[in-house]
Amino acid sequence: MNNTKPIYVTQPHLPPLEEFYPYLEKIWENKILTNGGPFHQQLERALCEYLGVEHLALFSNGTIALVTALQALRVTGEVITTPYSFVATAHSLLWNGIKPVFVDVDPVTLNLDPAKIEAAITPQTTAIMPVHCYGNPCDVEAIQKIADNYNLRVIYDAAHAFGVQTQNGSVLKYGDLSVLSFHATKVFNTFEGGAIICPDAKTKLRIDQLKNFGFVDELTVVAPGINGKMSEINAAFGMLQLQGVDQAIARRQEIDTMYRRLLKDVKGIHCLDDAGQEVSNYSYFPILVKDGYPLDRDALFEKLKDHLVFARRYFYPLISDFPMYRGLPSANSANLPIANRAAKQVLCLPIYPNLGDDDVERVANLIIGDD
Ligand SMILES: Cc1ncc(COP(=O)(O)O)c(C=O)c1O
Repeated sequence: MNNTKPIYVTQPHLPPLEEFYPYLEKIWENKILTNGGPFHQQLERALCEYLGVEHLALFSNGTIALVTALQALRVTGEVITTPYSFVATAHSLLWNGIKPVFVDVDPVTLNLDPAKIEAAITPQTTAIMPVHCYGNPCDVEAIQKIADNYNLRVIYDAAHAFGVQTQNGSVLKYGDLSVLSFHATKVFNTFEGGAIICPDAKTKLRIDQLKNFGFVDELTVVAPGINGKMSEINAAFGMLQLQGVDQAIARRQEIDTMYRRLLKDVKGIHCLDDAGQEVSNYSYFPILVKDGYPLDRDALFEKLKDHLVFARRYFYPLISDFPMYRGLPSANSANLPIANRAAKQVLCLPIYPNLGDDDVERVANLIIGDD
């Protein structure tokens, strides 16, 4: 090919390097590298304020946070979850010896379909783990109603939902716990990182103990906890990142608007609608490649790749198709028709703050066919 530059599905958002030096100097000065140091404490407070939540426990990454959230609520038996997510959602269940029970997704939002949850509840069911996929909120009210009726816990995998708000404020306040990821590819990143949003100080205390080996004090260990602590370097970087996050989300919104305008008349291409939330984070730009389009999804994916545009098929394969899950009765594709269809049609287009208007046009023109 010519000297066209590659465009990836995402590119981490980074502030100018020199802005990070003063933070590093502080760490070098006080020699506190981890274990709830000053930057860790600052970031927990700053994120509570930014996100509009009361209590938050930082983690080394979102996966350990999910594993710990289940431990904190002593979840056992079976947990109802979605097959249409990143594999860490279900892996967190297996790491706790819990059996995932997959339930199909809603055809519009591609989030867990509340209308199908009740039929999957058994005497062993103890919780529901839905995902706010692409940052679009689940039907939180309907899910809570079912959880209340059957006395189930709800832990949201909110890895994509940083800063998202419904009409009632932060979507992270729903359920018993919500888990965020601050992985490099996310809207807000700390290189690696994550957090659990907790409803009260008592739950946060238990979570803080669990992420620190179960230590309560120097001599007392109350649970087989893990090392899930966020380091001072990651927390300091989070403080810096937080300053630019609104601007980053605003640029994502412009890109989202541009794609929707450019692709609106392309037959067979459907840009996924949001879920009607008050505030979005534009973390992904998923399209569905439907029958009316001249190429199937994989052919379009390959065509883009040939032109150095690296879109991603999130979420294909479905979690229920990976070897450690496909033997489960609920993993049967007949049980998950909507998720299976979406997994065959979806393509996430490049979206990140540094993506230029000309890049968005280049991607859209390849899809339109004017290349
Ligand atoms: C839906 C979902 N859940 C969990 C995770 C895991 O988060 P982390 O990479 O921070 O461990 C991710 C992303 O990485 C994700 O997209």
